[in-house]
Amino acid sequence: MRKQIAAANWKMNGTLQQANELLDGIINEKISYSPHREVVFAVPFPYLILAKEKIKNINGYKVAAQNCYTKSSGAFTGEVSAAMLQSIEVDYVIIGHSERREIFAENSKMLAAKVDVCLANNLSPIFCCGEPLQIREAETQNEYVATQIQESLFHLTNDQLKNVVVAYEPIWAIGTGKTATAQQAQDMQAFIRNIFKEKYGDEVAKNISILYGGSVKATNAKEIFEMPDVDGGLVGGASLSVPEFISIIKSLK
Ligand code: PGA
Repeated sequence: MRKQIAAANWKMNGTLQQANELLDGIINEKISYSPHREVVFAVPFPYLILAKEKIKNINGYKVAAQNCYTKSSGAFTGEVSAAMLQSIEVDYVIIGHSERREIFAENSKMLAAKVDVCLANNLSPIFCCGEPLQIREAETQNEYVATQIQESLFHLTNDQLKNVVVAYEPIWAIGTGKTATAQQAQDMQAFIRNIFKEKYGDEVAKNISILYGGSVKATNAKEIFEMPDVDGGLVGGASLSVPEFISIIKSLK
């Protein structure tokens, strides 16, 4: 069975004290471990080492950065390199979140380079894709998402793609309280898996984890995660509440 993942995307939220409380609250719940399940904490940069320290020696927990830069070192004030993240043993890096694409003008070419630098440093990218509302209303979301994937991932080899996780996040559902229906998530994620099948073959496509993101919460997680091509979620707002996120973790297949 491919990996089922509940990833907490804290975004730019929480003080050090709140980070401590959130991490402790979730880790102390001692959710029963299963080798095909993972809980990922995508915390702001200042808390990565803290999160890493707290999950040490506990199975099933991983840590993600929310971004990285394409260069390994140098005069790039304010940026963080994949090499730095590797040196503190981060596991994943979120690449191409719609907020990075929209607010920080990250384009497909830059995201392809970020994917490359992650893989070169043994970090698994959680690659985000997803359409804005006007594209959904025009019913061209499949072409839109296919292009995002082709432009930033299709240069990878089969072996490289095995280390990538994809997150489908329709922009109209992020932070809006408006969730895609379980069926809308399933339809798109089956489509995405098929894109990988055509390019990389059945074996790679079958094993790639595709998460859904966009207003996942305790009350809708189970229905969405039950869909055959949904392998868990990338969770923003609801990951900032201990009981909400625990319930979401327990909704994984
Ligand atoms: P949300 O965010 O759960 O608050 O909609 C999801 C995301 O942006 O990753």
